Amino acid sequence: MHYFFFSPLSASFLFFLLLLLLLLLGTAVVFFSLLPFRFLQWRHHQHKRLPLPPGSMGWPYIGETLKLYTENPNSFFSNRQKRHGDVFKTSILGCPCVMVSSPEAIKVVLVTRAHLFKPTYPSSKERMIGPEAIFFHEGPYHSRLKKLVQASFLPSAIRGSVSAIEQIVLKFLPTWNNGVVNTLQEMKKYTFDVAILSAFGHKLDLEMEGIKHLYRSLEKGYNSMPINLPGTPFRRAMKARKLLNETFRRLIAKRRGSSKQGGGLLGILLGAKDQHLNHLSDSQIADNIIGVIFAAHDTTASVLTWLLKYLHDKRDLLEAVTREQEGIKASISEANRGLTWDDTRRMPLTSRVIQETLRTASILSFTFREAVEDVEFEGYYIPKGWKVLPLFRSIHYCADFFPQPEKFDPSRFEVPPKPNTFLPFGNGVHACPGSELAKLEMFVLLHHLTTSYRWKVVGGEDGIQYVPFPVPQGGLPIEVTPRKANAE
Ligand code: HEM
Repeated sequence: MHYFFFSPLSASFLFFLLLLLLLLLGTAVVFFSLLPFRFLQWRHHQHKRLPLPPGSMGWPYIGETLKLYTENPNSFFSNRQKRHGDVFKTSILGCPCVMVSSPEAIKVVLVTRAHLFKPTYPSSKERMIGPEAIFFHEGPYHSRLKKLVQASFLPSAIRGSVSAIEQIVLKFLPTWNNGVVNTLQEMKKYTFDVAILSAFGHKLDLEMEGIKHLYRSLEKGYNSMPINLPGTPFRRAMKARKLLNETFRRLIAKRRGSSKQGGGLLGILLGAKDQHLNHLSDSQIADNIIGVIFAAHDTTASVLTWLLKYLHDKRDLLEAVTREQEGIKASISEANRGLTWDDTRRMPLTSRVIQETLRTASILSFTFREAVEDVEFEGYYIPKGWKVLPLFRSIHYCADFFPQPEKFDPSRFEVPPKPNTFLPFGNGVHACPGSELAKLEMFVLLHHLTTSYRWKVVGGEDGIQYVPFPVPQGGLPIEVTPRKANAE
């Protein structure tokens, strides 16, 4: 028997059989992989014969995923943009996508025809943040929530929190003194405290440690593979999410039971009634509190980390910002008071440094939308269900709008950017409601940091790490020392 399998004749016969099988398999794969394409072509003929956008869909099923993950994401997008133009198609993780990178086309997706492109997230993210959070909705529920969240983060609403934010800064900055700290981790602590302050109207000292612990587990799972098996970060995160929900519901119940609804976003959500005088439910409130903390925390921490990196690398700029902040400090000391909202409006150079950081770091390189129906778009046909990705980073790095885009140059913001070319906070119905709070956190921190300390990057590692937002390699470890008076 064994000889039969190994005799030369039967070996070649087997080889022939194998070849035949492979051939059949190959034909089947090609046939089935082309089926959806043929179907699309047919639908596309129905659709006034507009072409699909140019570009390559890569291999069947895997598309261009491997290329995106092995190439630098910036060059992945810019190479294709050069080859195909501002609107091109590709396929990532099994999803056909259209990338959009001109200001006009992005405005169409996010603003003028936003109803045709809904935001889209993996279901695992939705389960983790909470399905009733603002991000996952459209229409009346979304606009009702948006008004409430915006009301809570308008300049008029947050100007009163400058002093509380300053207290947070004044508490943690001295702990950096004469030591090495990881900038990203420290900024995460800062932005988390501010997010809790904005969500609840005060610092929640009692519950804070428990909430922080649960939140950390949630965050780890959020950035991991969604495998719901015992011991996986995802499973642990789902457990933490449940416990966080219980903690928040207890806090909500306590506030509902008291005569005052209290401050912060929670106060506004508790007091909200629709036209039929219905209140938001506990789960709607909890999902949105968790959602806003999520949106507020990592984003702002990543930008703050870049701010410290750029100011470290540009000593002249650091000294110029310090001079501006020294001027504010002098007037504050003279009046014997703390920093105010109005002070933060008198920081033009610092403001331009923040804008240039938001552009250069472009921590949200793009966002996701999905075509809700077959759409005619910029002379192309986008089939229903295709993802549409406005590429913010491509616009921020386009030399037509930002000459020498690789250069960190805050003076470019002495002239306001052209409409729809500066989109760190998005645009349209889903634009960021927290932009003013994020910038306020940066002003307050820079005021105290530049006037009292100096920092040196340690480790010498240059480069970018994705956690998931792009941040300087290793989270930017820095050594902090007190600033010598009159030292340049
Ligand atoms: C520098 C920090 C931040 C950046 C770069 C940023 C960026 C963005 C962007 C680009 C969007 C739009 C996403 C899209 O259109 O799909 C967005 C949405 C959002 N952001 Fe921010 N954000 C930051 C900080 C914050 C803060 C501090 C808050 C807290 C209030 C916040 C709350 C939100 C919420 C709730 C949404 C969803 C809005 C909606 O769906 O209508 N963000 N953010």
